[in-house]
Amino acid sequence: MAVGIDDLSLYVPRLYVDAEDFANARGIDAAKLQRGLGIEQMAIVDANQDPACLAANACLQVMQKNKLSPEDIGRLYVATESALDESKAMNSYVIGMLEQVYGSGSFQHCGGIECKFACVSGSYALYDNSNWIRAGESEGKHALVVVSDIAKYDLGSSGEVTQGAGAVAMLLNDSPRLLEFDPKVTSTSIKNEYDFYRPFGKETPIVHGQYSNMLYLIQVKNALVDYERKAVATNLIKPKDGETILDYIDYINMHLPYSNMGKKALAYLVRHEWRKTPRWTKIIQSVGMDEPVPKDPRGTIESVLADTEFMQKDAEFTKRFAKTEEYQDVYESKVASSLLASRMIGNLYTASLYLGFRSTLEFEFQKGVDLEGKRFGFASYGSGSSAMVFSGVIMPEYKEAVKDMNIEVELGQRKKLSLDEYEQIHENKLTPDQPLLNAQKEFILVDIGTKPESRGERRYRFAE
Ligand code: HMG
Repeated sequence: MAVGIDDLSLYVPRLYVDAEDFANARGIDAAKLQRGLGIEQMAIVDANQDPACLAANACLQVMQKNKLSPEDIGRLYVATESALDESKAMNSYVIGMLEQVYGSGSFQHCGGIECKFACVSGSYALYDNSNWIRAGESEGKHALVVVSDIAKYDLGSSGEVTQGAGAVAMLLNDSPRLLEFDPKVTSTSIKNEYDFYRPFGKETPIVHGQYSNMLYLIQVKNALVDYERKAVATNLIKPKDGETILDYIDYINMHLPYSNMGKKALAYLVRHEWRKTPRWTKIIQSVGMDEPVPKDPRGTIESVLADTEFMQKDAEFTKRFAKTEEYQDVYESKVASSLLASRMIGNLYTASLYLGFRSTLEFEFQKGVDLEGKRFGFASYGSGSSAMVFSGVIMPEYKEAVKDMNIEVELGQRKKLSLDEYEQIHENKLTPDQPLLNAQKEFILVDIGTKPESRGERRYRFAE
């Protein structure tokens, strides 16, 4: 049975911090953000927004765009790592907000939960909901999977430059107009790790930045190796001698904690795949140096990171490799378009991968590329840690969903925050009744209960 994404909507808060202002305030070279990490702007939530609002706004948009009523939705899942409660699931808040528009009790028939595994949980939610449809349980209804997060790090920390906020709502069904998932190839890798985690009660994560970068690469590579095995075993892809699985994937979307992580990950995966092919000899000649090997090739991530000679040589190798015509060709044709939206918005944790997907669709369509039949690969990563690699093919009716996509229009009139305003919001100095923007046709947070019997109860309103 065909299962896939029928349509998707993006909601991003309109406040942002500019990379240059931020760099000046923190005494960092702006080029580190703009060229080194690929960050121009970071979206920031207003004082009357939380991750549930972002999620509900994305859901409302996708339902309104497709003229769906609650009866058309059988499952509503929220994947997030910005949970509001240890027990009450975020999809219940979202249903409460949607029922303000569609009527009390209108989603009563609908099921769903909140899913958590850092940034990868949205991909698990898509997979599980696809299987609900494949199992024939959906009775023709859609599953609505929404990924929503606020990426927030400590003031002055090295992660602070990689913040952002937003949500992507995706409609799944058995006759998708946008993308049909390839069956039986979804692959995962998992390991108990502490690269990035947020203990109970702490608003910001504890992060081992360089460790997390390397773990991301290793986990995604492991999942890709298994994807390759499954794709060959199921005859989905039959690489000929000297070819690799990546030759058969037209677009690669990767989890983007910052835009340049997509470049980094592509270089790592392509090196891993090409190394075993005859083309590698020519690449090594173009690069002009041998591929470096760590002193202890079987060592831990810590030992590799501590091997400064290897790290420097490897950075030099990657820099030269990224300049080869062969890599440039893969980068421009398969990845470049997915990175554009992330530059303007920042890390959306669970939603970052899908913002990248959305970015590819919009910017390739604008270039006039015919996407029908193109295979999209997805490399999802969540700290803690797990990766998932899967793929799908663009459907003949995709233009119905893609033709009106316009990130600039959807972002609307954005307000650039002064560093002072940004820090006030960051440090929770403003209450929901002190927003910096006038909300229009969107859900907002009105109040959070403080009395013992109603502590933590959140009230929302649809601002007309
Ligand atoms: P850092 O130590 O601040 O930066 O950490 P750096 O020294 O690694 O520099 C970053 C890049 O800028 C480097 O490029 C520098 O060369 C370059 P690269 O070598 O990587 O190609 N650079 C410059 N370029 C031009 N002009 C300059 C300049 N200076 C330096 N003057 C880090 C960066 C991302 C680690 C940090 O910001 C951080 O800890 N962020 C949060 C964690 C994170 O995003 N990790 C990513 C992988 S884990 C993940 O994706 C999961 C996550 O989304 C959470 C989840 O799953 O829930 C985070």
